[in-house]
Amino acid sequence: MLEEKEESLRSKMNINEICEEFFHKEWGNEKVRLHSSCMIEACLNMIKDTSLDPEIFIIAGWIHDIGRKTDVEKHPQISAELLNKFLDENKSFSDKKEILLDCILNHKRSGKPQTVYGMIFQAADKASLYNNRWIASKFSFS
Ligand SMILES: [Fe+2]
Repeated sequence: MLEEKEESLRSKMNINEICEEFFHKEWGNEKVRLHSSCMIEACLNMIKDTSLDPEIFIIAGWIHDIGRKTDVEKHPQISAELLNKFLDENKSFSDKKEILLDCILNHKRSGKPQTVYGMIFQAADKASLYNNRWIASKFSFS
């Protein structure tokens, strides 16, 4: 019964709300929250007028840096484990797993993304650092 209620509540939330809620539950760090939102914005701007799937960028955007909470160097791998947790809780997105992993595991400068999604995601990670909201925040990644 409770599960049914949760299910119907979930169906009323949009994907950005579901992913942002997951982000806040796992960490909620203000700097990474702003970075993730600027990165998603950069991705969605890049795919305007294409048939690429925006949900990939929203999910990967909210999850890709949560691993920094545990280890900055190994954070893509840790974030990939958190992606598994997210997909366990949100099984309807499971068919996107391989592309999501390409985005999350290969987003660092040293990464070698294999898909157009991964390439856009890696570029957006850099472009997001020039977002005016990010610049105004005075946050930076060391
Ligand atoms: Fe990252």
